[in-house]
Amino acid sequence: MVDVILGLQWGDEGKGKIVDFFAPRYDIIARFQGGPNAGHTLYVNDKKIVLHQIPSGIFHEKTSNLIGNGVVLDPVTFRKECEAVASFGIDYKKNLYISQRAHIIVPTHRALDKASEISKGNEKIGSTLKGIGPAYMDKTGRNGLRMGDLLDKSFTTEYIKLRLKHQRLLDGLNFHDDISIWEEEFFEAIEFIRQFKVVNGEYFINEKISQGRKVLAEGAQGSMLDVDFGTFPFVTSSNTISAGVCTGLGVAPQKIKDVIGVSKAYCTRVGSGPFPTELTNEVGEELRKIGKEFGATTGRPRRCGWIDLVALKFACMINGVTKIVMTKADVLDAFEKLQVCTGYNINQQVTDEIPFQMSRVEMSPVLKSFKGWKTDIAPIKDYNALPPQMQEYVQFINQFLGVNVCYISNGPGREQLIENM
Ligand code: GDP
Ligand code: IMO
Ligand code: MG
Repeated sequence: MVDVILGLQWGDEGKGKIVDFFAPRYDIIARFQGGPNAGHTLYVNDKKIVLHQIPSGIFHEKTSNLIGNGVVLDPVTFRKECEAVASFGIDYKKNLYISQRAHIIVPTHRALDKASEISKGNEKIGSTLKGIGPAYMDKTGRNGLRMGDLLDKSFTTEYIKLRLKHQRLLDGLNFHDDISIWEEEFFEAIEFIRQFKVVNGEYFINEKISQGRKVLAEGAQGSMLDVDFGTFPFVTSSNTISAGVCTGLGVAPQKIKDVIGVSKAYCTRVGSGPFPTELTNEVGEELRKIGKEFGATTGRPRRCGWIDLVALKFACMINGVTKIVMTKADVLDAFEKLQVCTGYNINQQVTDEIPFQMSRVEMSPVLKSFKGWKTDIAPIKDYNALPPQMQEYVQFINQFLGVNVCYISNGPGREQLIENM
């Protein structure tokens, strides 16, 4: 049996904290897509750590963690993350497995990412520049190197071939940065990564499932950044939605039970692209300030706005969401008035569907207002003790989406999660 936790917005919904909270109920936590573009923040013994590629179950002794075939893995970032995890007294090698089919991000992927963004000028995606797009392009283009290739004697030869191919592309883009330091780090990290358990991930996970073990698939990014269903071209390069679990781990769809979607009580986006409910005024500033909305991977300020129920309903449909976790509800404590988006106004017509090409249409959100609760909800542990205005806000969302908010997160701490089943 496999449950999934994934983001329903444009990423940074608080997936890391939620996975860390649920991890003790599972035997395996498995990342199925994305790479070091992700930044999942956890608080362990009140100390902060940001995970990029290591699954958020790593702090639980009895939980195994798998980096699935759908992930693109950067050995350099991975090594740094391992060191950060070790500083918590965790033996990261013990419970960590890597699929031999996971593709490797090489230094020239990062260079290509940068060169591609520069060449796009004002139309840049706002990529994290971690080499994600180029690495997935090499996967679908049938060129990339995989973790299993590390065992092969021809790894360095294959690497050089790939590098030469990339060099021609970089020359075409007029990109001449010196990446020799990146390369040095890369080969050191390759030696480091050789110590890990590189497994046949699909057999590993299916065997565990047939033994009755419980798997939690951890998504990265968010549904609106999905390469097929997100706000293309301002998306990431993987399938971030629940379907990605099947291809990113090698599990059949019938094995998936709960799809737990994580959404903030408002909305943020980092990088370029459409964001219908964005607030470019002082209310947006206030959300950023109170919510500490700065990227966990790049430190960039996140764009902030009201919750977008049109996009959320779309995400629930595409993912088959069975339960919603609403995070950062405490961030709304200070606001007199809250708004939620229930439709888009496009050419004087209101729609509750996501348009094909959001970035090319003039649209404005249809907003419904709610009275704020003006109460410090952080210490609250019970749903019924939440202010009535907040319960009203949540009930409206439940009704609109047809899926219930089953958990409310009211602070970054592990224990700050209110159940509402
Ligand atoms: P992820 O990428 O989805 O794991 O999310 P990030 O870690 O990038 O961003 C979420 C941020 O919100 C982190 O700094 C978390 O510590 C913080 N956070 C998570 N849940 C809550 C919450 O309920 N309240 C508050 N105030 N912060 C939260
Ligand atoms: P987590 O897992 C928020 C965004 C980037 C950019 C676009 C493409 O922490 O939620 P990429 O590096 O994939 O080429 O960037 O996607 N992006 C994220 N935004 N959270 C993330 O991950 C993201 N990963 C990528 O900002 O707009
Ligand atoms: Mg993040």
